[in-house]
Amino acid sequence: MDALDAFFELSPDLLCVRGADGYLQTLNAVWITTLGWSESELRSRPWSEFVHPSDLPATDELEQRCHQTRSGYVTYKNRWRARDGSYRWLQWRVSPYCDGCSYGIAQDVTQTTWQGNRNYLAQIAAAVKLRDRAIEASSVGIVIADATRPDMPLIFVNPAFEAITGYPPAEVLGYNCRFLQGKQTDQAELDRLRAAIRAGKDCTVTLRNYRKDGTLFWNELSISPIYDGEQLTHFVGVQADVTARIQAEKAVQLEKTRAERLLRNVLPQPIIQQLKEFTGSLAQQFDAATILFADIVGFTPLSAQMQPLELIETLNRVFSCFDRLAEQYGVEKIKTIGDAYMAAGGIPLVQANHVEAVADLAIAMQAASQQFKTSRGQPIQLRIGLHTGPVVAGVIGIKKFIYDLWGDTVNVAARLESLSEPGRIQISAAVYEQLGDRYDCEPRGLIPVKGKGELFTYWLLVQGGGNEIPIQEL
Ligand SMILES: Cc1cc2nc3c(=O)[nH]c(=O)nc-3n(C[C@H](O)[C@H](O)[C@H](O)COP(=O)(O)O)c2cc1C
Repeated sequence: MDALDAFFELSPDLLCVRGADGYLQTLNAVWITTLGWSESELRSRPWSEFVHPSDLPATDELEQRCHQTRSGYVTYKNRWRARDGSYRWLQWRVSPYCDGCSYGIAQDVTQTTWQGNRNYLAQIAAAVKLRDRAIEASSVGIVIADATRPDMPLIFVNPAFEAITGYPPAEVLGYNCRFLQGKQTDQAELDRLRAAIRAGKDCTVTLRNYRKDGTLFWNELSISPIYDGEQLTHFVGVQADVTARIQAEKAVQLEKTRAERLLRNVLPQPIIQQLKEFTGSLAQQFDAATILFADIVGFTPLSAQMQPLELIETLNRVFSCFDRLAEQYGVEKIKTIGDAYMAAGGIPLVQANHVEAVADLAIAMQAASQQFKTSRGQPIQLRIGLHTGPVVAGVIGIKKFIYDLWGDTVNVAARLESLSEPGRIQISAAVYEQLGDRYDCEPRGLIPVKGKGELFTYWLLVQGGGNEIPIQEL
C-alpha cells in the first residue's frame, strides 16, 4: 500500500471520488462502518438516492455551485440513509476534480447535530411521554417479558393488565406469566405458544386464564419477539379479555345446534343443505321412488267414541312407532295426514333397494299395529297401499317448509291404500315385479281405480315375507 492508499484507508473521515454520472467511484471503508451498506450496494445506485429527500434540493444546488466555480470547495450538511433505515448527518467538504468528477470528505456529525438541537430533544421527550400515556390508556393488557433471563420474567405490565387479571404489578413483576393458567388451560394452544417462544416468533392464542380471585376469563394473547440485531432480548405480550365474545359465540353455537336438530326433524339432511345454499323452489325429479300410504281403519267411528286428547294420544303412540320403523328401514317419513301415514323410499337420495325397503317397512308396520290397542282396548287395524315409479320431490313455498312428493305414482299409491283391506298390504304390479320371489305375494286381480281404469294388483303377505328387523320399543 503506498502512502496515498494508506491515507485513504486509515482516514477517520468518509472519503470518496464521485463520477460525472452521479455514482460513487471510489470510497473508503469508513462508509461501510458508518452507513452499514456494502461497497457494492453503495456503488450500485446514484448517490443522490441515499440522501434524505428533504435535503436533496439544497444538496443539488450546492453541488452545482461547486462545479460552476471550478475551484475551491463547498461545504454543507445533509442526511444519508443507513442500511437499518435510520439517517446519519454528514458534514461535507466537496471539491471539483476533473471532467465533472468531484471528491468529497465527510464526517459523521449525527451525535453533535442531534445533541445540539434542544428542539429535537424536546420532541423526543414528548414522543416518549405520549407513548407511555398511550400504553397506560390502553384497554388491552400490555406486558414485556425479559427473554435474556432464566424463565422469562415479566419486567413491565400496564394498568389494563391489573384491570383484567386483578394482579397489581408488584405481585407479578419478576415472575413468568404462567401463574394465570389453571388445569383447564388448553394444552394445544399452550403447545403453540411454547413452540413460538422457542422459535423466537410471534403467535396468537386464546387461553382459559384465571384472575386473582379465581374466576375464569378468556385471554386472547398475542406475543411478539423483540430483537436487538440478531439477539432475542424480550417478548411483548398483548392480552385482550374476550370472555364476553367467547360466551356469545358458545350461546350462538348452542342455538345453532338446537335449531339444526329441530330442522333435521322436519326435513331430510340433504334438503337442509340445499335450502341453505339456494333460495326458491327445490323440486327434483326422481325416476324411481316407492310410496307407502297407511291408514287406520275405522278411525272415524273410533273418534266418535273417544275424547279428542285420548284419540291423539293413541295416534301419537302408533305414529311414533312407525317413525322409528321408517328410520330402521332407511325409508323417509313424509307426513301424517289425519289418521294416515305417508312414507317413501328412494328419495331424497337415490337408493338401489327402495322397493324392498318400503315393502319391509309395510310388513313391519302391519306386525306392529297388531300389538296396539286403543285406551278402551279396541284393536287397531291398518290398510296399506304401495306403488313405485317416477315422482317429483322437494320443498316449495317460502313458509312452513315440508318435504313433499307429487305425481301420478303418489296418487296411485294413495288409491291402492284406500282400496286395500284391514290388516293387508295392496301393491301395484310394478312393485310386485321388482320384489321377485323373495316375498310372499298373491294376486288380487283387476280392480277399478278412479282415473286409471282397471289395475291388476297383488297382496303382499305379512307372514314370513321380507327381511325381518326386530321391532324396537313399541
Ligand atoms: C410476553 C408473554 C406474555 C404472556 N402472557 C401470558 C398470559 O397472559 N397468559 C398465559 O396463560 N400465558 C402467558 N404467557 C405464556 C407463559 O408465560 C409461558 O411462556 C407458557 O406457559 C409456556 O411456558 P411453560 O411451558 O414453561 O409453562 C406469556 C408469555 C410471554 C412471553
